[in-house]
Amino acid sequence: MKVTISLIKADIGSIAGHVVVHPKHEELARKKLQEAKETGLILDYYVFHVGDDLQLLMTHQKGEDSPEIHKLAWDIFVEATEKVSKVYKLYGAGQDLLSESFSGNIRGLGPGVAEMEFEERRSEPVLVFAADKTEPGAWNFKLYKIFADPFNTAGLVIDPAMHEGFVFEVVDLLEGHAVKLKAPEEVYDLLALIGTTGRYVIRKVWRKIDNEVAAAASVTRLSLIAGRYVGKDDPVLIVRAQHGLPATGEVLEAFAFPHLVSGWMRGSHTGPLMPVSLRDAKCTRFDGPPRVVGLGFQLHNGLLEGPVDLFDDPAFDHTRRIAEEIADYMRRHGPFMPHRLGPEEMEYTTLPQVLAKLKERFVKVAVK
Ligand code: 13P
Ligand code: 13P
Ligand code: MG
Ligand code: MG
Ligand code: MG
Ligand code: MG
Repeated sequence: MKVTISLIKADIGSIAGHVVVHPKHEELARKKLQEAKETGLILDYYVFHVGDDLQLLMTHQKGEDSPEIHKLAWDIFVEATEKVSKVYKLYGAGQDLLSESFSGNIRGLGPGVAEMEFEERRSEPVLVFAADKTEPGAWNFKLYKIFADPFNTAGLVIDPAMHEGFVFEVVDLLEGHAVKLKAPEEVYDLLALIGTTGRYVIRKVWRKIDNEVAAAASVTRLSLIAGRYVGKDDPVLIVRAQHGLPATGEVLEAFAFPHLVSGWMRGSHTGPLMPVSLRDAKCTRFDGPPRVVGLGFQLHNGLLEGPVDLFDDPAFDHTRRIAEEIADYMRRHGPFMPHRLGPEEMEYTTLPQVLAKLKERFVKVAVK
């Protein structure tokens, strides 16, 4: 049977600053999604959070970009803002809801969306990842490792179904166009783009031999929609695993290296992406460090069995320790680059206001 998985998320307010969503947000979301399940609009759901971002994972048969599914998520975010965030004066009530109203598709309105439709296989392991205090380009490194690097994914060498490689769709967020690139034959071109994480973002990955969809990510950049800093995008990612696709352990292997991402405090700093359990899915030190949770499900006739809390495991303790060390090292740079982001990224923050104030005090000097 054909199933669509939609993971739609938004920051609609949080407790004690940008730390974590309110349990009542999740309660309300579960109630609404249970109702939607009973009416038959969706097949199944799972509600969770990472930091201050509320995550609605849904399975259904309405396809990608379904106005009904997007409206269901939008209405939950609006209601949770009104009935929870505003009542308790939570921080950043309705933060990611950048539009006054819904108009058929939630893309471009603020919330992040990752969606994929496929024919459910005989056994269908599905992994979902959600990050807080970072941008969608944070997945570029992980997706390259998982689907293009044989030092990460043994199956690229060993498994005939994967041996031909994968196709990556890369979106240029500044120009609003996309290009499909093949790995392994075009990996240098691919890397030339996706190394620029703030602009070129991988949205989808397909297996080359049969175009089977393998991964889908959210690509929303809030600052580009709003034209100013309104918090980080805090992206989500869905990956199918096993049987001709990377094994679950190959997908998770990419998370064992806490690579540096943009985000963290005020969305203006570079820091390590730390994999954590749902229990630790809140942002504290310097509003971070940026965190990612991973949940594993078995799909069966569109129903979600699980989750397994994938990073709730001593196998990732060492990664977390390294992340803490990197966090210390980066923090000691204080307001200096490259801990603080460069001027291009800072343009969307309140820093230009500070710089504008100094402008008239500059006097001409010879520099060459
Ligand atoms: P099993 O033979 O235990 O299913 O493992 C296969 C596999 O893909 C391990 O990475
Ligand atoms: P969020 O995008 O998670 O709300 O982060 C905003 C921020 O400025 C944290 O310091
Ligand atoms: Mg927030
Ligand atoms: Mg957030
Ligand atoms: Mg955010
Ligand atoms: Mg087995």
